[in-house]
Amino acid sequence: MRGLSSQLLLLMLGLLCTQCSNSEAICIEEEKQALLEFKQGLEDNYSLLSSWGSHEEDCCKWKGIKCSNQTGHVVMLDLRPVDGNLQGEISSSLLGLKHLVYLDLSLNHFFILPSFIGSLTKLQYLNLSNTKMVGNIPQQLGNLSSLISLDLSLNELEGSIPKVLGNMVSLVHLDLSSNNFEGTIPQTLENLYNLQVLDLSNNSISGEVPDLSKFPLLRELHLSKNRLNGSLTKGMGKLSKLQILDVSSNSFEGDITDSHLLNLSSLKLLDFSYNFLSLKFSSTWVPRFNLDTIALRSCKLGPAFPKWLQTQKNFMQLDMSNTGISDPIPNWFWDLSWNVGYLNLSRNQFTNTIPLQWFLARFIGSPIIDLSFNRFRGLLPQLNFDWTVLNLSNNLFQGSITFLCETNGSVKANYMPSYLSYLDLSDNLLSGELPYCWGNMVPLTVLNLANNNLSGRIPDSICGSTTHGIQSLHLQNNSFIGELPRSMITCSSLRLLDLGENRISGRIPTWIGTRLPHLMILRLSSNLLIGHIPLQLCHLTSLQILDLSQNNITGTIPQCLNNFTVMAQTQSSYVSIPHPYISSFGTSFLLTSDYVDNLLVTFKEKSLEYGKTLGLVKVINLSSNKLKGEIPREITNLRGLIGLNLSRNFLTGIIPQDIGYLERLESLDLSRNLLSGIIPQSLVTLSLLSHLSLSNNNLSGKIPLGTQLQSFSASAYAGNENLCGLPLLKICLGDEATQDPRIGSNNGEGNIQEHANSNERPWFYISMALGFIVGFLGVCGSLLLKSSWRHAYFQYLERIGDRLYKAIIIAMAKLLRNFKTQC
Ligand SMILES: *[C@@H]1O[C@H](CO)[C@@H](O)[C@H](O)[C@H]1NC(C)=O
Ligand SMILES: *[C@@H]1O[C@H](CO)[C@@H](O)[C@H](O)[C@H]1NC(C)=O
Ligand SMILES: *[C@@H]1O[C@H](CO)[C@@H](O)[C@H](O)[C@H]1NC(C)=O
Ligand SMILES: *[C@@H]1O[C@H](CO)[C@@H](O)[C@H](O)[C@H]1NC(C)=O
Ligand SMILES: *[C@@H]1O[C@H](CO)[C@@H](O)[C@H](O)[C@H]1NC(C)=O
Ligand SMILES: *[C@@H]1O[C@H](CO)[C@@H](O)[C@H](O)[C@H]1NC(C)=O
Ligand SMILES: *[C@@H]1O[C@H](CO)[C@@H](O)[C@H](O)[C@H]1NC(C)=O
Ligand SMILES: *[C@@H]1O[C@H](CO)[C@@H](O)[C@H](O)[C@H]1NC(C)=O
Ligand SMILES: *[C@@H]1O[C@H](CO)[C@@H](O)[C@H](O)[C@H]1NC(C)=O
Ligand SMILES: *[C@@H]1O[C@H](CO)[C@@H](O)[C@H](O)[C@H]1NC(C)=O
Ligand SMILES: *[C@@H]1O[C@H](CO)[C@@H](O)[C@H](O)[C@H]1NC(C)=O
Ligand SMILES: *[C@@H]1O[C@H](CO)[C@@H](O)[C@H](O)[C@H]1NC(C)=O
Repeated sequence: MRGLSSQLLLLMLGLLCTQCSNSEAICIEEEKQALLEFKQGLEDNYSLLSSWGSHEEDCCKWKGIKCSNQTGHVVMLDLRPVDGNLQGEISSSLLGLKHLVYLDLSLNHFFILPSFIGSLTKLQYLNLSNTKMVGNIPQQLGNLSSLISLDLSLNELEGSIPKVLGNMVSLVHLDLSSNNFEGTIPQTLENLYNLQVLDLSNNSISGEVPDLSKFPLLRELHLSKNRLNGSLTKGMGKLSKLQILDVSSNSFEGDITDSHLLNLSSLKLLDFSYNFLSLKFSSTWVPRFNLDTIALRSCKLGPAFPKWLQTQKNFMQLDMSNTGISDPIPNWFWDLSWNVGYLNLSRNQFTNTIPLQWFLARFIGSPIIDLSFNRFRGLLPQLNFDWTVLNLSNNLFQGSITFLCETNGSVKANYMPSYLSYLDLSDNLLSGELPYCWGNMVPLTVLNLANNNLSGRIPDSICGSTTHGIQSLHLQNNSFIGELPRSMITCSSLRLLDLGENRISGRIPTWIGTRLPHLMILRLSSNLLIGHIPLQLCHLTSLQILDLSQNNITGTIPQCLNNFTVMAQTQSSYVSIPHPYISSFGTSFLLTSDYVDNLLVTFKEKSLEYGKTLGLVKVINLSSNKLKGEIPREITNLRGLIGLNLSRNFLTGIIPQDIGYLERLESLDLSRNLLSGIIPQSLVTLSLLSHLSLSNNNLSGKIPLGTQLQSFSASAYAGNENLCGLPLLKICLGDEATQDPRIGSNNGEGNIQEHANSNERPWFYISMALGFIVGFLGVCGSLLLKSSWRHAYFQYLERIGDRLYKAIIIAMAKLLRNFKTQC
């Protein structure tokens, strides 16, 4: 598909240069001077223009220049660099090249699109793509009425598309994609009857699309990633030359019927994805096209399986994910898909068993297959390993997965499949043991078997050969037993290891720390692990999630955990795993982006699935073990932490005084330990904290006053006999006297007190509002105002000691907390 535009380019080059030559012509002195002046405005750090103005006198022989062999005029200036680039301003000396028909400055850095370009009226080809230009398109450009091709793509141009572009009546190719254009498509563009390629994609263009039947020669229409709305008109159906129709990621709505696509006999790529379109074709419709790429993601197709697909015998990419189809897949469909390079049927309600021969098929390429989130059922037969990605997650497949080793019952000992690198069988009903051979066979990058009923030991071979490193291994929520095999030291590329919710026993192996240096996520929760946390874990400087909760781990929390440098950083750390698949076809999202790991993180007492934001999730969870000793002060260095759960252990000593350094902390659970001492004042500075539990310890003293700490319910502090102050009902000793100074004093002194209070009141309201605003700002982002102000304000509150006001504050704080938990 990409080939089309370059074909056009070649065609045009031929067209323009019937009169070009760099042999006969001798350049004209004024034009030579103009070129030298143009060069002066440029920084040429890569010596791209070294031939200009050196010993070579004839400018027609300079690099990038072509002259007419009839007139000697410079007609072509092509400075598209192969390596490096030019930088500077486009000098108005270019106006000296009055006969210029071809100007390609793409991929250089010019920043400004000068209006005088509009005076080069002979121009037929103008390419300023990717030249870092900013600002609006100057009106003067409309004067280029001879222009055949205009490419301004990949800049930062803004404003609306000028109406005067409608004056470029010869235009065949118009590319304004990947800028910041807004406003509507001007009506005048209808004047461009010769248009063959129109690319407005990846801007912020809004409004409706003009009647497309006005562009009878159109071959490519790219409108994706804008804010276009309204319905697509039936005029579109007349474009019998149209090969690419990509309107994805807009807000188009309404029905698409047979007549919308009636005469599109040349169509090869159709992309309606991510709109609000319903496809309602008659059941007998036989389209006149034969598509390569069919992208209908998130359109409404169902509930019936689209029958017209049966006529599409050559498709290579098909995305019908999330289209509301609930019919079973008809048998003819499987026969059509041998050719396929990308097949996404995910998020429908297919209930089929998949025909055995389909799984065994030798696909022509090495396709990406995503059948996840359906109700496919049956046993998994043996697979051939031609796939790059096979995603069968969230279905009802059952039985064992020994097929990974077998072909018709015999073990494929030396079979080394060459492609399969992403295998996701999670969330099915698979059972039985993992076959022992398979790691030798499959060069997997990502293996996800989570949430099945798999059992037995984790086989030695799980990571396969050392040359192809598995990077993400999800085995959580099965019934695996036994110790972690030492052979896993070959998993040296592992970044994510999730073995949670199994019955894995023994100690946490020291080699996890020494041999898996890239680990970012380690989850071993809810297993049967015993022994100490090995100090070697502190070697894992990239670690961002450490979850060892719900085991029988003993000993102390290692002090060296300040070695987790990624947890000490507040910025996102997660890097997605690059996808092996490089697509050759045009539509934007099918160029599968990098693989993004998903992880269920228990956090604030909820389990949440994190994907793209996983890099910000930095959590330590050691709860429900048998840890003793003190909470190491070093933990307060981990400033990126958003969750810390040490609850349900036997920890003693105090809460580290500097706990307030954990500025990102949203959840802190230290409950059910043996902690003593006071609650550190610094805790009030944690403005993002929305979940707190300190209950069932031996904490004592007064709960520090601060919007955060009073906003939690009393249960956050319960079970600490010597703790007092709000939100607990227990009043602190010494507070009663100042609680309400007015009570029982109706004498002069009392009046003065009253008076003083009423004077202070406006201040009080101001500071209350301030506190509320400060708290509110903290809701989803960083605290903009100094938090020390808030403390001052609470100390002030303390002084005036008015219960009513405190009650108001607490009500507000609760309100705030509700906001926060929604973030
Ligand atoms: C000019 O050059 C073109 C292509 O190089 C050639 O076909 C044409 O005959 C030349 N014309 C003259 C007058 O030399
Ligand atoms: C070109 O080189 C000059 C001098 O070394 C330098 O100041 C300038 O930043 C360079 N420009 C580019 C685009 O690299
Ligand atoms: C413009 O230049 C870019 C980059 O050099 C190229 O990819 C593109 O095909 C050109 N556009 C046209 C219309 O020739
Ligand atoms: C070019 O266009 C501008 C604005 O559209 C106009 O004012 C000007 O007269 C035009 N110049 C020429 C030489 O046609
Ligand atoms: C969309 O445009 C932005 C610049 O506006 C660019 O960075 C990005 O790569 C473009 N995306 C695509 C898919 O072309
Ligand atoms: C399209 O969006 C514009 C705002 O961008 C709005 O004014 C207009 O009503 C919308 N049209 C339709 C048909 O939704
Ligand atoms: C459809 O295309 C055919 C030629 O391919 C033409 O004769 C016919 O008029 C077209 N119909 C419409 C409605 O454009
Ligand atoms: C399939 O489509 C869904 C959206 O409908 C998307 O989330 C998923 O990433 C796609 N699968 C692949 C392998 O591209
Ligand atoms: C597998 O075995 C069955 C009989 O058990 C046989 O019919 C079939 O052809 C075999 N398939 C392959 C791929 O060898
Ligand atoms: C499988 O599909 C689901 C849903 O589209 C997605 O979350 C998961 O990342 C996919 N797995 C792989 C290995 O592509
Ligand atoms: C922890 O060990 C105790 C015995 O010391 C045992 O009763 C308990 O079941 C174990 N719990 C877990 C989660 O392994
Ligand atoms: C901290 O990490 C570095 C780098 O992995 C390691 O050399 C060092 O031994 C670690 N420190 C401790 C105390 O484990």
